[in-house]
Amino acid sequence: MQRHLISAADLTRDDAVLILDTAEELARVADRPIKKLPTLRGRTVVNLFFEDSTRTRISFEAAAKRLSADVINFSAKGSSVSKGESLKDTAATLEAMGADAVVIRHHDSGAPHRLATSGWIGGSVVNAGDGTHEHPTQALLDAFTLRRRLVGGPGGGAGGDLAGRRVTVVGDILHSRVARSNVHLLTTLGAEVTLVAPPTLVPIGVESWPCEVSYDLDVVLPKSDAVMMLRVQRERMSAAFFPTEREYSRRYGLDGRRMARMPEHAVVMHPGPMNRGMEITAEVADSGRCTAVEQVGNGVSIRMAVLYLLLSGAGPAGVPAPAPAPATTRSPEESK
Ligand code: NCD
Repeated sequence: MQRHLISAADLTRDDAVLILDTAEELARVADRPIKKLPTLRGRTVVNLFFEDSTRTRISFEAAAKRLSADVINFSAKGSSVSKGESLKDTAATLEAMGADAVVIRHHDSGAPHRLATSGWIGGSVVNAGDGTHEHPTQALLDAFTLRRRLVGGPGGGAGGDLAGRRVTVVGDILHSRVARSNVHLLTTLGAEVTLVAPPTLVPIGVESWPCEVSYDLDVVLPKSDAVMMLRVQRERMSAAFFPTEREYSRRYGLDGRRMARMPEHAVVMHPGPMNRGMEITAEVADSGRCTAVEQVGNGVSIRMAVLYLLLSGAGPAGVPAPAPAPATTRSPEESK
């Protein structure tokens, strides 16, 4: 593992499988009456959120706390960022707080990379979503969910990865960091990814991505093992990308009738927040085939694994042993 997690594209297959297997081990902690491990005691994790978030922020907080780290939550609203403070000055404050890891969500694509490579801070940087670029921990929790649902947990399938599984990602691909990270990670793990969207919401240069593109959802659904619905990201749209909401739902929304075209074993995913009635109907969102809530729970295990692997200098997967007690004996050097 590298020191930072900025992009799913940086993960090798071995890195990704190590994170997924570690998350599987750590998920067991959630089943215990006391959901805490002492592994990151004395370490400080800062959640630095410049953009709104519900699931990602509380899940990083829960993950850090379950590993006994100290957590500082920083949101741009109500901080000096709203007075115009720069990322560099904010970074200097975090450094003064002794942050061992900074989990950053930012509206600008590239902000986490800047933080990681600028030399402004000494700790690890974890990208929790940057602009329309990447959201690697979301892709990891999606892969974890797929592995559990379709492959049967660690060791299942070909080496526990997603070889040959067909994942269809539907909707606002253009503005979606979730789609971008998933295309990279899922293909690294052996899955075949197809993007389905109106032509106006397909990014320029998609030909160079390791996936197929289709404009016809009904044709792709019967060949899918999982269908990932994306939120239409109105806050990132400066123009009209489709005629009306009704027209969008009619062609690219998932309702009960469409879901019936999917193979029986296939699941419906959504990263949240959902626009019910737009990209997904309430009937589908609330059905047993929709993994949206399960994805949120799995997000805690994945973020525990990422923080654990980045901060404890751990090697292979496994529930970590308790942190070593502070040294009480002096080294020969000191005794002299
Ligand atoms: C996504 C995000 O913020 O990129 N949500 C999330 O992290 N759970 C997707 C979205 O906002 O639509």
